[in-house]
Amino acid sequence: MDGLDELRKSWLDRIGGASEEGALEEFRVAALGKKGEISLKMRELGKMTPEERQVAGPALNALKDEVNAAIVAKKAGLADAALDERLKAEWLDVTLPSRPRRQGTIHPVSQVTEEVTAIFADMGFSVAEGPQIETDFYNFDALNIPGHHPARAEMDTFYTHRKDGDNRPPHVLRTHTSPVQIRHMEQHGAPCRIIAPGRVYRADYDQTHTPMFHQVEGLVLGEDISMANLKWVLEEFYSAFFGVQVKTRFRASHFPFVEPGAEVDIQCSFEGGTVKVGEGDDWLEILGSGMVHPKVLEAGKIDPTKYQGFAFGMGIDRIAMLKYGIPDLRDFFASDLRWLRHYGFASLEVPTVHAGV
Ligand code: DAH
Repeated sequence: MDGLDELRKSWLDRIGGASEEGALEEFRVAALGKKGEISLKMRELGKMTPEERQVAGPALNALKDEVNAAIVAKKAGLADAALDERLKAEWLDVTLPSRPRRQGTIHPVSQVTEEVTAIFADMGFSVAEGPQIETDFYNFDALNIPGHHPARAEMDTFYTHRKDGDNRPPHVLRTHTSPVQIRHMEQHGAPCRIIAPGRVYRADYDQTHTPMFHQVEGLVLGEDISMANLKWVLEEFYSAFFGVQVKTRFRASHFPFVEPGAEVDIQCSFEGGTVKVGEGDDWLEILGSGMVHPKVLEAGKIDPTKYQGFAFGMGIDRIAMLKYGIPDLRDFFASDLRWLRHYGFASLEVPTVHAGV
């Protein structure tokens, strides 16, 4: 059959020169489609003599297969080239460090609260909570602080506003965590071993006082609890917290909710203008404590002839300042980012019982 070689060359050239898949499809239709150039040639076979057909038939079939295969190969080649192109254009370096993101820090008060909780948890204490807006019953009366008692005035209490003629007893912002003692006794009775960390409020403001600050209360009740247990628990606590052996000194003192009451000092040195806990011959007042007053037990619906126990209360911010060398309490709550970055703790710094030592 004449012209097959030219036909073959013309299609293979066109296919070879195609630069996109769409063009290949057009070539396929134009060559091999129903009215395609090669298909029309095939039709001519019918008009041929058997001898001619014997030669032209296989030649045409071979041409058809060859063109088909060229289209398929070219298609695959174009797809590969396109992929290479994309891989080059969309390349990214997965070894590059990620963009830095600003990270917050854990506030020293949160950190120290966690540390305190961890140490007392080790000694079998659980955590109790109470409301920050208290009735004056829980904040004062139940703690053996009657209306006329000077402690009410001393505490610079914030009272909630009452409309004229509203004679309900006033609510206060709790001035200490001691009311949680009463709430816990009422709900869970004795024996018990709890701490109650949380916010407290007093109208006071200077280098060591802010209107809102933090305390942790402790309460242990049982049938055979004494001041000796209190002393052991506190020495154990301070030694774990400061990471050095800390001696305590008990001084007789008065708090309406305990009898006897004691202020506790911890051993320290003031040499060189800095306070160092657990060394030297000086003492630093650190907390109030005592044996729970029978009237307080009664207010908490506990039988004082059967149970007795000790209680204590200390400032969380104060021991945070001591441990981490923070000079001014007001900065704790000033929300100054530079301060927070400097004194804050990384979120993955798991609190240890004596972190930072
Ligand atoms: N509530 C007292 C205060 O805020 C601290 C305190 C003293 C708590 C003696 C106690 C305690 O439980 O026994 O000043």
